[in-house]
Amino acid sequence: MSEHADDIMGKAYDARLMRRLLAYARPYIGWLMLALIIVMTVAGVELVRPYVIKLAIDDHMSGYSQPMLVFEPDQVPEDVPERLRAYHDGLVYVKQTGLPKGFSEGDALEVAVVDDPDTVAALRAHDIRRIGNLSMLLILAGIASFGLNYAKSILLHSIGQRIVLNVRTELFTHLEHMDLAFFDRNPVGRLVTRLTNDTETLNEVYTSVLVNLFKDVFTLAGIVVVMFRLSPGLALVSVSTLPLIIIATVLFRVKARDAYRKVRAALARINASLSENISGMRIVQVFNREAHKYSEFKATNAEFYSAGVGEMMVYAVFRPTVEFVATFALSVLVWYGGARVLRGAMPFGLVYAFVNYIEMFFGPINALTEKYNMLQAAMASSERIFQLMDTRPAITDAPLALPIERARGRIEFKNVWFAYNEGEWVLRDVSFTIEPGQMVAFVGATGAGKTSIISLINRFYDVQKGEILLDGINVKELRLADLRRSVATVLQDVFLFTGDIKTNIRLNEKGIADERVREVAKHVNADHFISRLPRGYDEPVTERGSTLSAGQRQLLAFARALAFDPAILVLDEATSSIDTDTEMLIQDALPRLIAGRTTIVVAHRLSTVQHADKIIVLHKGKIRESGTHQELLARHGFYYDLYRLQYTDSPAAPELAASAAPATSQG
Ligand code: UTP
Ligand code: MG
Repeated sequence: MSEHADDIMGKAYDARLMRRLLAYARPYIGWLMLALIIVMTVAGVELVRPYVIKLAIDDHMSGYSQPMLVFEPDQVPEDVPERLRAYHDGLVYVKQTGLPKGFSEGDALEVAVVDDPDTVAALRAHDIRRIGNLSMLLILAGIASFGLNYAKSILLHSIGQRIVLNVRTELFTHLEHMDLAFFDRNPVGRLVTRLTNDTETLNEVYTSVLVNLFKDVFTLAGIVVVMFRLSPGLALVSVSTLPLIIIATVLFRVKARDAYRKVRAALARINASLSENISGMRIVQVFNREAHKYSEFKATNAEFYSAGVGEMMVYAVFRPTVEFVATFALSVLVWYGGARVLRGAMPFGLVYAFVNYIEMFFGPINALTEKYNMLQAAMASSERIFQLMDTRPAITDAPLALPIERARGRIEFKNVWFAYNEGEWVLRDVSFTIEPGQMVAFVGATGAGKTSIISLINRFYDVQKGEILLDGINVKELRLADLRRSVATVLQDVFLFTGDIKTNIRLNEKGIADERVREVAKHVNADHFISRLPRGYDEPVTERGSTLSAGQRQLLAFARALAFDPAILVLDEATSSIDTDTEMLIQDALPRLIAGRTTIVVAHRLSTVQHADKIIVLHKGKIRESGTHQELLARHGFYYDLYRLQYTDSPAAPELAASAAPATSQG
């Protein structure tokens, strides 16, 4: 599995992809707005917190250590706010911090430093109450943040999972309609990754990036605004390190993108190597290639490792850099603010609030880089997902597809030329007709094109030249569903699904009752071995049916074909050898299977074909000869040789032996 170069080089941000990703969020726009409101509220609450602490410090905690103005009650200037006044021993004490601008000491009796504990306690009653209130406010804000964050998480994750579910459904449905040529080109592993990993990566866009990005930007902007409102001087000092952050971020983006590409390229290589080696493990072991394969794997594994370390290094350098700049900003603040606090030009609480704001400021910057990483991964994944979604199936219903109720079963090939890959003709000018109810057999050496003819009847591929007609209608003009309902195919290698025997016969078609399953199984002689299984028709079947023998799988496939009662039956005999008992069961079942239907058999055992109405001998994609068994024998041609090889023990020509070898002699 080799990832395309442009996959790896996918852009970190692409407006076109983003628009498409956002389109998936549209149905949940109301919920997303709610999440946005929640997130903004939380950000607002967080912004207020340092300010509340500043109030507690500047207005209530400090202030009394500084000298206070003492007034006779009737002498207090009217513009002194109540919160700055304290009453003790018939006098009014006024705090100096927070007084209106241009206030003059005026009629104060004295400027006193209050240090007698009793007086302090009495004066502070009001402040203690206020500090209590402010703490309460902080707790309430904390609880509100907790609840809102919780609601936001649930909301965003459900939306994200919902969208991923939709994308996965859409992709799977899309895949189900792709033509077989597509699956020849795309390895299973790659498609599975699209449906699982890639869709999961998208999830991050909706849960972590989309709404939270607003929060980060809002928080950053909010902090800057609040800082400038509180103290332009301190604000300027605080943002003086911003250029450093910008340079670091730009460098980080470039480095992170390169590192990410390396990791993806290495991952693609290790995936390809693993999927090939694990599926080919049998061969690896049979030919003792373990050591060799191990050294191959070691190299790709080491490459993946160093790419991973490289990516980690980028983050390992960036985060501490941001931390360092944050510390630097803090130290400048402490130096600048500290000097002013000492000179009494600035309240301590203000500096404290700035310390908080600076720490809050670097949080979103770190978070933004993390989101950049997620966005990068999501862009790469979405590009591949959309690429898959945009691949149109080569085989689709014609715009005015003709519906058919039940086909009569006449099949005609008219000068058919077909190639899987352009220029490599697999069928050359093939023409034949099969009348309804007839049985026609195809014989020929391996690679002659027998299975290809069957695939064409099912319209798994479209022919390049000529046409294929069902009941006189070109298969391209039929509805695919109708065509495939009319034709039941038993393929060379029978595929069984995980489940039990019953569901493998009726393929989850609800219209087929248990009795019918049993009936068709009896009909094709499959009931015999099924009823001997410990759990009969409920016996579990593993993926691909590896617990059953080739012959048993073949009988199950017959039952499956018969259950759907098709107008046309197509059998591609297994080339692998089947034991004589099963072979006899199959031969015995065949006449019942084909009665009343058009039947096409690809035969490797000539015993099967002798009763055919017509035998077509294929050789290298061309029809070499055709006729009944007797006619062909009389011709002493190709078929005659084939027949002789199977029924006598005379030395075989190598080419014919290849196709005839698996057959069991019954002479
Ligand atoms: P067939 O698969 O039609 O041969 O391939 P066959 O007659 O059934 O052979 P046996 O008896 O089962 O072994 C015909 C040609 O088409 C090519 C094969 O390489 C072969 O030369 N082919 C087949 C493809 O190129 N792509 C495919 O997906 C299948
Ligand atoms: Mg074949």
